[in-house]
Amino acid sequence: MEVYWYLIPHDGYYPWKRQGTRAVDFAYVSQVARAVDHLGYTGALLATGGGAHDAWVMGASLIPQTTRMKFIIAVHPGIVAPLMLAQKAATFDQFSNGRLIINIVTGEGKQMPPYGIELDHDERYALTDEYWGVYRRLMAGETVDFEGRYLKLRDAKLSLPPIQKPYPPLFFGGSSDPALTVAARHTDTYLTWGEPPPLAGEKIAEVRRRAEAFGRKVRFGLRINLIVRETKEEAWAAAQWLFDRIDRDVIETTSTRRTQTDSIGQQRMNQVIGDRLGNKAPRHARDLEIYPDIWAGFGLIRNGPGTAIVGDPETVAARLKEYADVGFDTFIVSGQPLLEEAYRVADLLLPLLPIERTTATEKFVRGGPFLAAVGARP
Ligand SMILES: Cc1cc2nc3c(=O)[nH]c(=O)nc-3n(C[C@H](O)[C@H](O)[C@H](O)COP(=O)(O)O)c2cc1C
Repeated sequence: MEVYWYLIPHDGYYPWKRQGTRAVDFAYVSQVARAVDHLGYTGALLATGGGAHDAWVMGASLIPQTTRMKFIIAVHPGIVAPLMLAQKAATFDQFSNGRLIINIVTGEGKQMPPYGIELDHDERYALTDEYWGVYRRLMAGETVDFEGRYLKLRDAKLSLPPIQKPYPPLFFGGSSDPALTVAARHTDTYLTWGEPPPLAGEKIAEVRRRAEAFGRKVRFGLRINLIVRETKEEAWAAAQWLFDRIDRDVIETTSTRRTQTDSIGQQRMNQVIGDRLGNKAPRHARDLEIYPDIWAGFGLIRNGPGTAIVGDPETVAARLKEYADVGFDTFIVSGQPLLEEAYRVADLLLPLLPIERTTATEKFVRGGPFLAAVGARP
């Protein structure tokens, strides 16, 4: 099992409000990265959006400050030429001694035109398909001549091999029909936001089926927030504390923005919240408990990963175990603020989880089997 933290340049106790937001600069991001490295997480996801910093530059600046953590760098296909991306990836992989993972982010309709990509939803995935096909050939050392619908390359060859073979793992998020096929064809780990386990399990079955048709195997990762406290009551009180800091106008702005998205993944998240609430406005945090111990409160104030597992360490571990049972072995978790919660989760939860941590130079296992640990406390 791999457990990653989250490293986005937007943070605070409740960063949807000015007074809940903290300044995130290089010194702060460095502290979070060093905590992740020190505490036994497998690594961290460096997402795009939510802040103005660039994920590649941020990741590269943190290599010399860390020794073990892996960096999952979000990449939007098509913005840089595939050979340029291959060069960046190989350089990062060499300089970090094999600690790079790429997260393929195809992007939403409104997000891509400023970067020069003016394509509709399904065409973006057609571009993604071409792009990662070419990228994988380059990383494997081929000289590539390619003329596709979106890309043209002649005599492209990567002269610097990556450390990880055949190339640093490719993670991927996207829930639409073309997304599932691209994931099955090109990627190593398919990621989804924290839908309830039965729904997430359906996606796993479908991606697995499509991957088998390509003769491939894909692993599965879950991106979810955590609110872990020593007792369940404290954990739900913490959720209520956050809920009390969500103003109606913030909910309205976010929900209007959400309905304008062409992302199927986002629409599925919206549906999960909508199904629970109907036309009613939530009055208490627990009105948003969409599945036992799964709280959709973050979905009121942000796009993307809108759910959190809430509870004492054993409850949270048991719920992660339920996700593991439907096929997930990779978890990208977070809490706010990123620094304090990285410590809290490491202190309370990580000892209950069977985390495998591997780098190019070492391998060790921390924690015990889920079930032995879950229920270990009276
Ligand atoms: C775990 C996960 C992480 C993601 N990270 C990012 C990100 O860093 N930046 C971003 O713009 N979109 C991100 N996305 C969004 C998707 O990559 C994708 O662009 C979006 O869901 C639209 O695809 P769809 O219509 O196939 O769902 C992420 C999605 C998932 C599931």
